[in-house]
Amino acid sequence: MSDWLIRNARLVNEGRQFDADLRIRGGRIERIDGNLDARPGEQVLDAHGRWLLPGMVDDQVHFREPGLEHKGDLATESSAAVAGGITTVMEMPNTRPPTLDAVALQDKYDRAAGRCRANFGFYMGASNDNLAHIQRVDPKATPGIKVFMGASTGNMLVDDPAILDAIFRDAPTPIITHCEDTPTIDATMAQFRAKYDDALTPDMHPDIRSREACIKSTRLALELARGHGTRLHVLHISTADELALFERGPLVDANGKRRKQITAETCIHFLRFDRRDYATRGNFIKCNPAIKESSDREALIAALVDDTIDVLATDHAPHTLEEKQQPYITAPSGLPLVQDALLAALELVHEGRVSLLQIVDKLAHAPVQLFDVKERGYLREGYFADLVLVDPQAGHMVERANVLSKCGWSPFEGVRFRSRIDAAFVNGELAWDGQRLIGAPNGQRLEFAR
Ligand code: DOR
Repeated sequence: MSDWLIRNARLVNEGRQFDADLRIRGGRIERIDGNLDARPGEQVLDAHGRWLLPGMVDDQVHFREPGLEHKGDLATESSAAVAGGITTVMEMPNTRPPTLDAVALQDKYDRAAGRCRANFGFYMGASNDNLAHIQRVDPKATPGIKVFMGASTGNMLVDDPAILDAIFRDAPTPIITHCEDTPTIDATMAQFRAKYDDALTPDMHPDIRSREACIKSTRLALELARGHGTRLHVLHISTADELALFERGPLVDANGKRRKQITAETCIHFLRFDRRDYATRGNFIKCNPAIKESSDREALIAALVDDTIDVLATDHAPHTLEEKQQPYITAPSGLPLVQDALLAALELVHEGRVSLLQIVDKLAHAPVQLFDVKERGYLREGYFADLVLVDPQAGHMVERANVLSKCGWSPFEGVRFRSRIDAAFVNGELAWDGQRLIGAPNGQRLEFAR
């Protein structure tokens, strides 16, 4: 294992920014102090005042393995994540086969060992007929149970009211939900098809997968969670209207204890794109839930600042160029985002909209608090050395040639970000040096303090 001394860094962590050195030993942060001397055998990296952040923790990615490896796999997508400063991922169950029991879950952990560059946890999925598996799930084996309360990629819709109720009643882990009411979407789709025949276009996506569908389903999830006292995390909030349903205020109290039983997440694409972008990006920003109005985008940014939104994630969901170039109606939903998400989020800091401390909170601290992840997500002595070094001034142009995700494209192509990721460390090892991936994959399975 390599030992490192990172000198002259601007550390950003737990509500503070300060200048310090940071020593990595045996894969962990050994010491954070004002002026550390290099020891023999230690590699030294002079940060020259650049930002040193805890590695980002993405609680919503689709890495496609097993079964959809033509779109992405654990090796390729985790490489893209690490190059983007995301050192921990929690991965979704809509693979083939879907992750609906302990055997399928273990299969994913086995596949990830030695191939995943980021640390990993895998969600267990829900269906209309796997209640017994959900009831038996080991809370230390998964971050949570994913419930598709709206149909999306993969056939995982849970729409049996009795089953839904039982899942909220019995889940031994947090429940995380995709909230979009499918009957509402189906009815709107039928109207659009009747009116436009098959000549539907990507800019109709936010009308077809409407705000009403999101609100109705999110309301139901909250109602079920309140009724049963469930620990609920609602994913990818996309409308201003849904924000009114959640509690505003910090996720944790002064002692670091989680205050909220129900939490909310939004994703980076809802903060960087809005309806106007369909004209230029078409299906390349088609995703579920849909990217909606600029007023929604503004409200979501404000909600990040006032702590109505607890977590910022990606919903990284790669599909091939060929698939995305199909007509609107058949092009699949989802965007590859892990490589660009942190730099895109830092644009909000450059724009003076969100503070750097808040970005670090929503992208690193909050997800580990929310899922009880052990010893990650902070710059703390004794914690795993998952780190990202950012040059806030260097700039980075997104180009197709540099995309590491297997799908080979990015919705941010042609965008110049003001910051650049100069290094990422995973479990104390340099994994990305700003230009290339370094060393063998060494992501570890997440542990949950439950
Ligand atoms: O746009 C999306 N893509 N939303 C989802 O819920 C699923 C995801 C995917 O897996 O492609």
